[in-house]
Amino acid sequence: MQPSLSKQGQGTFTVPGSQIRVDHLSRMIATRAKKTVILDDVTFTVPAQSLFAINGPSGSGKSTLLNMLTGIDRPSSGRVIFEGQELRAMSEDGLARWRGKHVGIIFQFFQLIPTLTAIENVLLALELGGGGGLKRREWRQHALKCLALAHIKDLADRMPSALSGGEQQRVAIARALANNPPVIIADEPTGNLDSRTAHQVFETLSSLRQYGKTVVYVTHAPELAALASARIDLLDGRIVDSYQAQAIIAAPPQPEAHAVGGDLEKPGVNDPQVSTALPPRGGDAK
Ligand SMILES: Nc1ncnc2c1ncn2[C@@H]1O[C@H](COP(=O)(O)OP(=O)(O)OP(=O)(O)O)[C@@H](O)[C@H]1O
Ligand SMILES: [Mg+2]
Repeated sequence: MQPSLSKQGQGTFTVPGSQIRVDHLSRMIATRAKKTVILDDVTFTVPAQSLFAINGPSGSGKSTLLNMLTGIDRPSSGRVIFEGQELRAMSEDGLARWRGKHVGIIFQFFQLIPTLTAIENVLLALELGGGGGLKRREWRQHALKCLALAHIKDLADRMPSALSGGEQQRVAIARALANNPPVIIADEPTGNLDSRTAHQVFETLSSLRQYGKTVVYVTHAPELAALASARIDLLDGRIVDSYQAQAIIAAPPQPEAHAVGGDLEKPGVNDPQVSTALPPRGGDAK
């Protein structure tokens, strides 16, 4: 059942028990000729295990904001506090290591490596992220688990060119899970798919909450924004509206099978060869 949403109003949006806190964040681009404000004093929190939408028209600052959440870009002022850790305090190298463990990123155009199979794309992410605390001989099995969670395990050995757009995005979801990050961040993840496929892929993405993931996604599709458990609406770099499901404030959704430190297992998705249990998250990069 879709939780009811309560209107939070303009300006700021904060809830207790947050996983990501964005505090008076602004992003300006200054050239000699002019100063452009892309994000203007944005404050909100992303509740743990929420399905969090950043909604707004083209040019409203959605991707710029995501780049701040992932530490790809730095704010002109304000701060992002991610699980208690302030991103601006980290060096570029530290941020890159941190990103590999804490966020899985999904793009509109999938951005798979075209010369690698589906499973090799997941394995590469695992390699780049430091192996997720697993022994190398466990990697393939783990990559298959990630592909199973994204419902694309059967096509593990296909090249991206032999996959449909929806299938490629499922591989991208599996890749985002490779290092078992607590947060998945997706920029228009279904923007390049037909509406039926978009809804199927979105359903897979939102199902990740059952494994304890927080899913933050950008959209300008009202029907997808409406499915969020919490949402901010951006216009011209400002929050103009926000919503929060009451159920989230009262009690975040629990995974069906609880796991400590991100070691997740959900009955029902297992198959005889591949369990969906993910390993514990590796040590934090500080
Ligand atoms: N490096 C930059 N220099 C100048 N302007 C920029 C820069 N990056 C982004 N912008 C401007 O900031 C605004 C917000 O851009 P952003 O890409 O965040 O929008 P968006 O909401 O993601 O749009 P879309 O839905 O089209 O992807 C746009 O007007 C864009 O032109
Ligand atoms: Mg964008």
